[in-house]
Amino acid sequence: MTSTNESTSMPKAHLTLDPHFTVGPINRRLFGGFVEHLGRHVYDGIYEPGHPEADEEGFRSDVIELVRELGVSTIRYPGGNFVSGFKWEDSVGPKEQRPRRLDLAWHSTETNEVGLHEFASWLRKVDSELMLAVNLGTRGTAEALDLLEYSNHRGGTALSQQRIANGAEEPFNVRMWCLGNEMDGPWQLGHRSADDYGKIASQTAKAMRQIDRDLELVVCGSSSAQMPTFGEWERVVLHHTYEDVDYISCHAYYEERGGDMASFLASSVNMDHFIDTVVATADHVKAVKRSAKTINISFDEWNVWYIDRWQERAKEFSRDDWPVAPRLLEDVYSVADAVVFGSLMISLLKHADRVTSASLAQLVNVIAPIMTEPGGPAWRQTTFFPFALTSQLARGTVLTPRLDSDTYETKEYGVVPLVDAVATHDEEAGESAVFLVNRSQDAATTVTLDVAALGAVAVTSAHTLSDDDIHAKNTLEEPERVGLVENGTVTLDGSTVTVTLPPVSWTAIGLERR
Ligand code: AHR
Repeated sequence: MTSTNESTSMPKAHLTLDPHFTVGPINRRLFGGFVEHLGRHVYDGIYEPGHPEADEEGFRSDVIELVRELGVSTIRYPGGNFVSGFKWEDSVGPKEQRPRRLDLAWHSTETNEVGLHEFASWLRKVDSELMLAVNLGTRGTAEALDLLEYSNHRGGTALSQQRIANGAEEPFNVRMWCLGNEMDGPWQLGHRSADDYGKIASQTAKAMRQIDRDLELVVCGSSSAQMPTFGEWERVVLHHTYEDVDYISCHAYYEERGGDMASFLASSVNMDHFIDTVVATADHVKAVKRSAKTINISFDEWNVWYIDRWQERAKEFSRDDWPVAPRLLEDVYSVADAVVFGSLMISLLKHADRVTSASLAQLVNVIAPIMTEPGGPAWRQTTFFPFALTSQLARGTVLTPRLDSDTYETKEYGVVPLVDAVATHDEEAGESAVFLVNRSQDAATTVTLDVAALGAVAVTSAHTLSDDDIHAKNTLEEPERVGLVENGTVTLDGSTVTVTLPPVSWTAIGLERR
């Protein structure tokens, strides 16, 4: 099936599900999130003491409910670019004594009203795991060690006793640590060359392991595959840190540029390639070092982000204006954005053998699936739906994608499949799931699923995100304009499931052993 012809008959795709052929197990950390002290993410987002829904600690319970519904595993904190100027000590101890600081990354004022202890408490409410980033921008190994000791050491030392005195008898026991953030980016405070960063990351990782050798450490990869140093950065950084770390990070954001919707819809082709390239580079270093160890990927920032708009806005910052919690990066997502978003999740799943941790950037208000108004409601953006359903249904292992699809031509990525898909299978529960996108802008596509190798199954659910208006969005005025609808076209005939995918759509199908 290779025709690029969408005009004569309904386009087609065929996917075979066979549990004998697997990519690898699904790590729950693939469904992670990211909370940065940025804009209205923390203040006026997760935390708003005067709000009618605020709990005794000032956290919005309506937001907590939505984050739980989203199904987020590990949450990366507190940045992002923010962390490269952050003094963690400012964020602990009595609130009234915490200093207000300039946040140079986002040209804001950080009040430190919410810090490590408050965030750890919020994480317990949303049932997620803490992943911390240390500042390797304006600070170094000593401060990273202090934060680790403060957070994880049981007691009996100055820093651990300080944590206890600040109200946390039990250590936070943080397992995953990021060694800085986007250190390849010239915008980053303390930006370094790959060589310089590799050395400090190696030194810091070794020192942290002297406190706890079982930590899981993430070294910074490139801020995007478009960085001029991409590829070489990964090679040099891993050359210095290969035996010291467990993961290398990937960051990628996508947006529709110049009205080229066809290429935008194929963004996951770029993500696939990005992951494959980083894996190849890591494995090259492994070969050179004759190492027995494999480095995996922490895809700890991914999303649709209209970054060009933000860059225009950043030019307006004035020297005297350092607001608290300004409205920054509040992208409002369309149906098309959510379809691309869903396909990025498919890409992550397809690489589950090497991408074993990922963080959706971000969670609330800031390029986020959840929006809030001060004193007002919280609602789900279009991107909320593919995340929540994938997190709910994708269990067990990822099946090797055996997909045959019609294709179409894009300016950015050449000829790409019209349909992208991945299937997961949980042998113990007897459940499988299939996630699909139709990238066609004008034609519905029929997909057949060969489920013979699963034995007798029943279709338990089929939901689609699509709209006649692919630019439709959920807003304060119309918070439920877009949602999932049941896909009534699904049929099961013997061992073939057939489903029709509307143009520009994302679909999830649940199957159960009979
Ligand atoms: O997620 C927004 C920003 O994007 C992060 O702070 C930074 O790491 C990346 O450039």
